[in-house]
Amino acid sequence: MTRTLVLDDVTKQFATGTVALEDVSLSVSAGEFVSVVGPSGCGKSTLLRLASGLDDVSGGSIEVNAHSTSYVFQEATLLEWRSALRNVELVGELRGVGKADRRRAAQEALDLVGLTGFEKQHPRQLSGGMRMRVSIARALVAEPDLALFDEPFGALDEITRLHLQTELQRLFALKEFAGLFITHSVSEAVYLSTRVLVMSGRPGRIVADIPVPWAYPRPPELRFEPEFAALTGEVSAALGEHS
Ligand SMILES: Nc1ncnc2c1ncn2[C@@H]1O[C@H](COP(=O)(O)OP(=O)(O)OP(=O)(O)O)[C@@H](O)[C@H]1O
Ligand SMILES: [Mg+2]
Repeated sequence: MTRTLVLDDVTKQFATGTVALEDVSLSVSAGEFVSVVGPSGCGKSTLLRLASGLDDVSGGSIEVNAHSTSYVFQEATLLEWRSALRNVELVGELRGVGKADRRRAAQEALDLVGLTGFEKQHPRQLSGGMRMRVSIARALVAEPDLALFDEPFGALDEITRLHLQTELQRLFALKEFAGLFITHSVSEAVYLSTRVLVMSGRPGRIVADIPVPWAYPRPPELRFEPEFAALTGEVSAALGEHS
């Protein structure tokens, strides 16, 4: 299986002297959805920025075996003057895809995230959850081999968040990209992922690597099962020991 993203003994020290990450090794393969949970300030966003090439490591190495990488930020980061459809279409435009093809792909992506009928609305005419759906559609329309998510649902209310979690793991089951997902929520990490990595407080190190056994798509009710509670308990315990 292709190891899409490989971090080997990665260390990151900023010019300020802050050591954000220390000896972080991990890999994410195609068809794996790996979540990272850890206390605030432990280096999670830094880890994602390094994986995306937005910033450079201080030590160790990063290997990316992907034709296309998508990055979903905490805020939806949409262009206000473009409709939902044209926000998603932008990816094709930048790649020089013809108008008919890029429009069809954008429409399909919006349909997948449940925004059929809202194509012409502008971001300010959409709810926070809908804007995040557009952002996810924009990430998926690029057909990424590697999809990076930095707490995309962090600013949303609980109900919207649960809906989007259900949608995202359904999309993952369809597209089978390699996913790396940052979150503060233990239950979100367990529900979405094939594997949960737990980070220590700064400098962030990986202190636990916990596999999640269930097949996709996962029913929303999985969250109420005793096996689910047992696994979230295991992740929480690892977090508690190292924060
Ligand atoms: N550009 C930078 N220059 C200097 N220090 C930085 C920079 N970016 C991040 N840091 C520091 O690195 C550490 C890790 O920051 P990071 O944003 O990765 O944390 P995080 O785990 O994503 O936190 P949160 O959960 O609150 O989003 C923090 O101490 C932060 O101050
Ligand atoms: Mg962060």
